[in-house]
Amino acid sequence: MSKAFNRTLITSALPYANGPVHIGHLAGVYVPADIYARYLRLKGEDVLFIGGSDEHGVPIALKAKAEGVSPQDVVDKFHYIIKKSFEDFGISFDIYSRTTSETHYKTASDFFRKLYDKGEFVEKTSEQYYDEEAKQFLADRYITGKCPHCGNEKAYGDQCESCGTSLSPLDLINPKSAISGSVPVLKETKHWYLPLDKHETWLKKWILEDHKEWKTNVYGQCKSWLDMGLQPRAVSRDLDWGVPVPIEGAEGKVLYVWFDAPIGYISNTIELTPDWEKWWKQEDTKLLHFIGKDNIVFHCIVFPAMLKAEGSFILPENVPANEFLNLEGDKISTSRNWAVWLHEYLEDFPGKQDVLRYVLTANAPETKDNDFTWKDFQARNNNELVAVLGNFVNRAMVLTHNYFEGKIPVCGVLTDYDKETLKEFTAIKAELENYLQNYRFREALKEAMNLSRVGNKYLADTEPWKLAKTDMGRTATILNISMQITANLAIVFEPFLPVSSKKIKGLINKSDFKWSQFGQIDLLEAGHELNPAELLFEKIEDETIERQVQKLLDTKKANELREHQTNPQKANVVFDDFTKLDIRVGRVLECQKVPKADKLLQFKIDDGLGGRTILSGMAEYYAPEELIGKQICFIANLEPRKIRGIESQGMILSAQNVDGSLFVVQPSKEVLPGSEVL
Ligand code: MF3
Ligand code: ZN
Repeated sequence: MSKAFNRTLITSALPYANGPVHIGHLAGVYVPADIYARYLRLKGEDVLFIGGSDEHGVPIALKAKAEGVSPQDVVDKFHYIIKKSFEDFGISFDIYSRTTSETHYKTASDFFRKLYDKGEFVEKTSEQYYDEEAKQFLADRYITGKCPHCGNEKAYGDQCESCGTSLSPLDLINPKSAISGSVPVLKETKHWYLPLDKHETWLKKWILEDHKEWKTNVYGQCKSWLDMGLQPRAVSRDLDWGVPVPIEGAEGKVLYVWFDAPIGYISNTIELTPDWEKWWKQEDTKLLHFIGKDNIVFHCIVFPAMLKAEGSFILPENVPANEFLNLEGDKISTSRNWAVWLHEYLEDFPGKQDVLRYVLTANAPETKDNDFTWKDFQARNNNELVAVLGNFVNRAMVLTHNYFEGKIPVCGVLTDYDKETLKEFTAIKAELENYLQNYRFREALKEAMNLSRVGNKYLADTEPWKLAKTDMGRTATILNISMQITANLAIVFEPFLPVSSKKIKGLINKSDFKWSQFGQIDLLEAGHELNPAELLFEKIEDETIERQVQKLLDTKKANELREHQTNPQKANVVFDDFTKLDIRVGRVLECQKVPKADKLLQFKIDDGLGGRTILSGMAEYYAPEELIGKQICFIANLEPRKIRGIESQGMILSAQNVDGSLFVVQPSKEVLPGSEVL
């Protein structure tokens, strides 16, 4: 039973405004949503595409505190950076607003109030950690302590980032407030809960029976939540950043960020159009949420339960969530700076937004996590965009200029081969539409690419540059058909590569097409004048890619050093253990590199005991002659070890700098060689 829809409301997850956006955001949510929105618009359908920043939540409050600014300062900064990135990449939102807007505060408050008045919440008092110095309740993230599973001393109240276990603040050993550092106490607090358990029956039917067509990753996650049984969820928090809970006696409490954020879709629609109720309350609107997999439960279970409880809203028809995109084999991470940031990409690759859109769609994490690598980026640009799409359009353009002065030649009688070629169009169109309708954008893109392959093959098989010497009539037909294919490419690539589609339209001197024209071969009439040929894409050289790879290697190194620097203190030792070490001062008599060992220096030391040889890995940081005559400290009673065939009789003490470099430790005044270090 498929419903008849008259308009489509597309929402895309509101990104947190606590950092810029990266390729993972684009690949998982915004490019697919944009392709779909553009496709529907091109078909002339009624569509709205809603976006905005998610500006509440504890991480934003924490970041503000850490930087000594207000949360509003934080979100003001990132909202505009994010908004600009989306504009730069052609994400065609009808509105991109924010959850700190006045409209949103009012909409979210009213929404809560309505549920409250209808008795849709359960009120509950529970014990939560309270910071008596800061005089506030502590969100899970504000509490740190020792992880009961792995012993990590810096676990958070919601999760230990060292072993990945999710925690509750009460699990932490020796909890501490991240605000004042004091030991928090348990104190009673009242909150409002959405009783998801009461919604379980209809949710089960609605998802598990009525929406079997949802993507398997989405359906599967919902099923496992529903099978586990739903629990009431708190929709308020003790926090000073967010939409205040709009009832008496709720001072100091705000709406939970996951309660207010999805309402942001509604607020932003209200901000966009007075006609908003048509989009949110009429059964003939198809509501679609584009999101990443970590948002599935909120969009498939919690938000629908909120909408149902309110009573006047429609529910989503589909939630085409994607899996995650990794970067060069590792999980993208904002805190570890392991990402390709959109604003940085555009600095390094100006004008190449379509290349990234292409690669992210061709490699989209639609059914499983996928990996972005710079090698693949280069290969797809060079072997697909340049060699297939760009090459075809350029050849068709240049040949038409060469033989027909840039005017569309007259199409003669079609041969069987021409007809066969054109038939492939119909097949491609059917496949492509089917994939787009089912949110399978990578397959859809492949079909669009196949159309340029058809063009390339047509030119290679018919060889108009040879025919031009003998048969101008036939040459005219071939180039007419080639230019019609080019015009069709401008149509099919519009949803995927809007900048390039516009460029093609510029080349063929046409402004706008409709999707319904796709498949026609009379898009360019005989005599129509083309603009000069220009390349659509350019090859990306190895050096360019190497620079990007190097940038990531540098990030990796910086992260390792940072971790190194914060190595936790080692376990205590008793004094006796310390006195077992015989540490002494010596003077370097000789120092030389060990042949064929890059890092090793061989020392001859005056140790006051008759002299000894020690090897040490400091060749990267000292020229041997620099050290001759210097005093050093060494462990005298370390078991001798053979390294590269040479016996090392002890160990020279050195300090390791944050970048890994080593420098010898010296007494601050000269002492007699052999003196003990105590
Ligand atoms: N800010 C959330 C995230 O990035 C997504 C919010 S989606 C909304 O994971 F529906 F709540 F707006
Ligand atoms: Zn742990």
